[in-house]
Amino acid sequence: MIKLRNVSKIYPNGARALIGVNLDIAKGEFVFIVGPSGAGKSTLIKLLYREEIATRGQVFINNINLVRLKNRQVPALRRNMGVIFQDFKLLPNKTVFENVAFALQVIAKDKKEIKEKTLSVLDLVGLSKKANAFPAQLSGGEQQRVCIARALVNRPELLIADEPTGNLDIDTAWGIVEILDRINKYGTTVVMATHALHIVEQMNKRVVRVEGGRIVEDRAEEEVRIGI
Ligand SMILES: Nc1ncnc2c1ncn2[C@@H]1O[C@H](COP(=O)(O)OP(=O)(O)OP(=O)(O)O)[C@@H](O)[C@H]1O
Ligand SMILES: [Mg+2]
Repeated sequence: MIKLRNVSKIYPNGARALIGVNLDIAKGEFVFIVGPSGAGKSTLIKLLYREEIATRGQVFINNINLVRLKNRQVPALRRNMGVIFQDFKLLPNKTVFENVAFALQVIAKDKKEIKEKTLSVLDLVGLSKKANAFPAQLSGGEQQRVCIARALVNRPELLIADEPTGNLDIDTAWGIVEILDRINKYGTTVVMATHALHIVEQMNKRVVRVEGGRIVEDRAEEEVRIGI
């Protein structure tokens, strides 16, 4: 599903964020991207949703070459992926329901379908009872669950998360990761950049370690439990 071939990203100021990266992620995988601050994790994530474009090499999602993708084709690409971030980026003047439904309204679905899909995804993240609350009335963990619901409401094949638990305490962070795990078990591919090594250590998932813009380690699921 995701294929990077000899990818380098050099920012306009000369920062070499990624150097010669090769990576394959199959449909249905759950992959953690780890590594120190400044390693290139967010840059890698940004290449996947075409927020940034590789300076060299090729980035494919479902055989679509993102390096060659035209700007007007980007919305269609993103319709098939959900993206979540550390900071919640919810619309403060809209309710939980409206924040999630908004993602569907953009692509003009009928009202009944919007309502059904929104309520179903709020149920999935355990927020049915908060549908009419505003973001400011929610805890950090609840706000992040709204973001997950918003990312999932279009039923994307791929969910990309950059440090989704970064602002949350350990228990709340686990709640988020458990939701991502459940979503993955339903078939969505999940790629998550994180500093939360305590979580990575306890989840039996593939771990890709980035350092200085290069992939320095790529461990398959079964090996993880042996120890980090
Ligand atoms: N927009 C930008 N312009 C210039 N340099 C950038 C830009 N974004 C990132 N960089 C540089 O690219 C390198 C990789 O940054 P990136 O944000 O990908 O790291 P990261 O692994 O996500 O770090 P963190 O764990 O702190 O989030 C860093 O040296 C950073 O300073
Ligand atoms: Mg980052």
